[in-house]
Amino acid sequence: MVSRVPFAPLTTDRLVLRPFTAADAEDFAERRSDPETAMYQAWRVPYSVERARDLIASMEGREGPIPGGWYQLDITRTADGRTVGDIAMYLHEHGHTAEIGYTLNPWARRRGYATEAAAAVLDLLVDVTGVHRIEASTHPANERSIAVLERLGFTAEGVRREAFWVEDEVSDDAMFGLLAREWRAHRTAMRL
Ligand SMILES: CC(C)(COP(=O)(O)OP(=O)(O)OC[C@H]1O[C@@H](n2cnc3c(N)ncnc32)[C@H](O)[C@@H]1OP(=O)(O)O)[C@@H](O)C(=O)NCCC(=O)NCCS
Repeated sequence: MVSRVPFAPLTTDRLVLRPFTAADAEDFAERRSDPETAMYQAWRVPYSVERARDLIASMEGREGPIPGGWYQLDITRTADGRTVGDIAMYLHEHGHTAEIGYTLNPWARRRGYATEAAAAVLDLLVDVTGVHRIEASTHPANERSIAVLERLGFTAEGVRREAFWVEDEVSDDAMFGLLAREWRAHRTAMRL
């Protein structure tokens, strides 16, 4: 069953994941405007503050992921209150499948934050939202992102050839999938 409940910030050992507010727009635009960060993403740099404000405004009033929409969360490090990055989830129209995507600030990488944040989002999607399957897709050369997905137990499901467009540029799209029952088993092994 797919359920909708008011969103409460997600907490992990080192992080808090909370919905974006208007105050996050500048920080979000700056992160997305870094050319290396944007290399395999769906936008071109620079990513304007206006665009960030529009995206945040489009989520206003939502109390969690809703079918047919992306829901973006800020990832804050509890120890010092610094934003380390963001993570988003998309719930398909029928509500049984979700997609995730994540970005860390360059200084915050290689410390396990993306895997930790994504694990919390998978818990939410499986235990609270009640999805059956979670998907993620990435450029086949995005090794860091693929490593995160593999750590989380996703299965590589193939590559959609020349399927990912950013303006007039196309690239292959590597598809990954994780079933709810696989996540329940995998997280137990991960957290032993
Ligand atoms: C994709 C991205 C989020 C991955 O970030 P990442 O830092 O590699 O992933 P994590 O935060 O999970 O960190 C994992 C690494 O931290 C290490 N690590 C260090 N301290 C750790 C700790 N205390 N706990 C867990 N892992 C730790 C892990 O060993 C791992 O390193 P390894 O891969 O060399 O073994 C990042 O590269 C990024 O933001 N890229 C640009 C945006 C992007 O491409 N997003 C994905 C689009 S599909």
